[in-house]
This record gives sequence, structure tokens and C-alpha cells, in this order.
Amino acid sequence: MNTDVQRRGLFLANLVSRRYLWSFSLPMFSTILKESTSVSHQKLEKIVVSKLKDIRSESDYAALLIHFYAYFSALEKAIAPFIDDTILAGFDQRRKAERLSTDISALGEATTLLPTVQMPQINTLAQALGAMYVMEGSVMGGPIIIGLLQKAGIQKGFSFFGGYGDKTHAMWATFIQLLNEKFTTPDQQKLAIQTANETFENFALTF
Ligand code: HEM
Repeated sequence: MNTDVQRRGLFLANLVSRRYLWSFSLPMFSTILKESTSVSHQKLEKIVVSKLKDIRSESDYAALLIHFYAYFSALEKAIAPFIDDTILAGFDQRRKAERLSTDISALGEATTLLPTVQMPQINTLAQALGAMYVMEGSVMGGPIIIGLLQKAGIQKGFSFFGGYGDKTHAMWATFIQLLNEKFTTPDQQKLAIQTANETFENFALTF
């Protein structure tokens, strides 16, 4: 009798600790998002790398930045109704279109003739943050990209790819923390992943 009770107790303790461990080993949403968008990131990266390799002059580089400007300025307008300083402190500081236009001007070109862009669907905060994930992450590969440009003799127009300088990783960490806090339901997570993928894919279509 005693051993039966002990056995049952052990069994329950084991079960509880397994559940406890299981809940601890659940991946964070940011990890799921990164994994679920890795194919579309790689496809876009391949296109951008091949464009970078073709750059021979400042005006070639400006032509690449004009694609970023066209897409990011439209995306920033699309997410603006859903995200502000109360959702993400220092939101204005993260705007990319202004930096892109500064770089394009520094390279002696203008943002008058823009390629056509197709927006992902953005009607909720989850979708807006999914799109913003792609824009925030676009400066993460910045040091590699600046290295490639410098090899091609480009010396200026790095305020966009320079990201937030030595604060880039801290700014990324704050953004990721917001994603992990905001997306608690599977439906919201699914929506954000879908929009992030659409944001990568539609950007690839602009080239
Ligand atoms: C030459 C092109 C590109 C290269 C070489 C590149 C490279 C990289 C690298 C090395 C990282 C990881 C950085 C780190 O964790 O410290 C990264 C992350 C990321 N990149 Fe790119 N990238 C490129 C283009 C782009 C573009 C054009 C976008 C979006 C428009 C983009 C979106 C992202 C995102 C969202 C992440 C964050 C992934 C995560 O940790 O969740 N990348 N990229």
C-alpha cells in the first residue's frame, strides 16, 4: 500500500517536472519568427547581394537605395496608424526612409522617380509589427553590406546601412523584447509571421 502511494507520488512528481521543463524549453516567439522567415530572408539577401556586386559607382549605389526608399517609405506610412511611442519607445528614431533619402542625396541623386511597390496587408498591430521586424532587421547585415560597398570604392551614403552604430544590437534587443511580449496568442503569431514573409517577398518583387 505504502509503496503504491509512493509510486503514484513519484509518477506525479515526474509528470509535473516534465511539464515544467517542457514549458521552459518552449522557443521564444522571436526565434520562431526568425526560423519561419529564413527562406524569404535568404531569397531577398541573394538578390541584394547580386545587386551589390554589380555596383561600380555612387549612382549605381543610389539606384539600389532608391529601391529601399520606395519600399520602406510606403511601409512606414502603412504601419504608422498602428505603432507609436506608446507601443515602442523611441519609435521615431527607428524611421528608415529619412536616412535613405539623406544617403541618396549625399550620393548626388534624388527620390523623384521611384519603382512601383506592392504592400503587404497591414490592418492590425500584429501585421504592422511583422512588417517592422523586416525593416528593423534590414540593418543587421549592415556591416557586411558596407564592407562590400567599400570594396567597390564607395565612401559615403552609409547612414541607413550604418544602423544605430554601436547601439544597433541594443536597439534590436529592445525590439525583439517587444515582439516577445506582444505576441502571446497563436493567431497573432501566425499573422505576424505571415506579414513578415509577405514583406520580404514583396520587397524582392521591387527589383
Ligand atoms: C546583402 C544582403 C543582406 C545580408 C548580407 C544580410 C545579413 C544578415 C545577417 C548577417 C543577419 C544576422 C545579424 C545578427 O544576428 O547579428 C541578418 C539578420 C536579419 N536581416 Fe539580413 N541581410 C541582408 C539583407 C537583408 C534585407 C534586405 C532585409 C530586409 C529588408 C533583411 C532582414 C533581416 C532581418 C529581419 C534579420 C533579423 C533576423 C533575426 O534575427 O530574427 N536582411 N541579416
